Amino acid sequence: MNLTDTYTLSNGVQIPIVGFGTWQSPDGEIAQNAVRVALESGYRHIDTAAAYGNEESVGAGIRLSGVRREDIFLTTKHWITDRGYEKTIAACEESLRRLGTDYIDLYLIHWPCVEKIRADWAEINLSTWRGFEKLYRDGKVRAIGVSNFLEKQLAPLIEAAEVKPMVNQIEFHPGYTQPETAAYSRKQGMIVEAWSPLGCGTVLGDPVVNAIAEAHGKTAAHVCIRYAIQKNALPLPKSVTPSRILDNTKVFDFSLTDEEMSRLDAMTRTGYSGFYPDDAPADAL
Ligand code: A2P
Repeated sequence: MNLTDTYTLSNGVQIPIVGFGTWQSPDGEIAQNAVRVALESGYRHIDTAAAYGNEESVGAGIRLSGVRREDIFLTTKHWITDRGYEKTIAACEESLRRLGTDYIDLYLIHWPCVEKIRADWAEINLSTWRGFEKLYRDGKVRAIGVSNFLEKQLAPLIEAAEVKPMVNQIEFHPGYTQPETAAYSRKQGMIVEAWSPLGCGTVLGDPVVNAIAEAHGKTAAHVCIRYAIQKNALPLPKSVTPSRILDNTKVFDFSLTDEEMSRLDAMTRTGYSGFYPDDAPADAL
């Protein structure tokens, strides 16, 4: 196994099994360098979002790396202010412009519209999805999916979808793995991606994670990334620190035992971001 191995999405598109995260990577030189260093370190899968405010820098980092666009799997996400068919099409065009590319490999609905916010939440999600289907058919995006959807939001979307979502990107790390959402998504043929596989860095101090890391002569970050891989969740570790970006790729020279996986599975809630579709205030969605 290595960084460029792939899973096959339900439409046949290949997606590298580890991606590089850019949430909270500041726009400008920092995000640009992080993406360039990631590609130089061997990553071939980059994850960004309109809401991260760094798409231009991500695009610049890709061009600076010299790696061919067709050799990179690039994901971006649609933001909540662009819900609905027409706005979705326009939002994707804007992302393409900022990224400086003419197609996106994977386009995700960043957050679902939920019952707490609007009574017609399901219709709103569906009208956004109709825009995604159009973008997919037009070849602007090679695959489409969602992020942060629970079963209750996914089920009606899948029921009405003409093109089924191929990915659900959720918060996933030791101490917070959302097993019900992951199981449901997989049952629907989706790949589960893990955002904040290091729990935004907070899981790296956990004693269980560190004891396991020590037993292998690896770091806590390696254990977290490896944990996601062995759970078949596609990790998207983020860093803006060149040495960490490279070091986080060194996860293919060891494996966690079943007993270690069980200990990580059994961890009490740790490093949870607090972002939960149903609980979040309306203006955060
Ligand atoms: P930085 O970007 O300053 O290097 P997640 O991917 O779970 O969201 O976690 C990202 C956070 O973890 C960032 O604060 C990042 O810091 C930090 N981080 C990433 N890799 C490592 C590492 N190998 N060791 C320590 N901290 C790391």
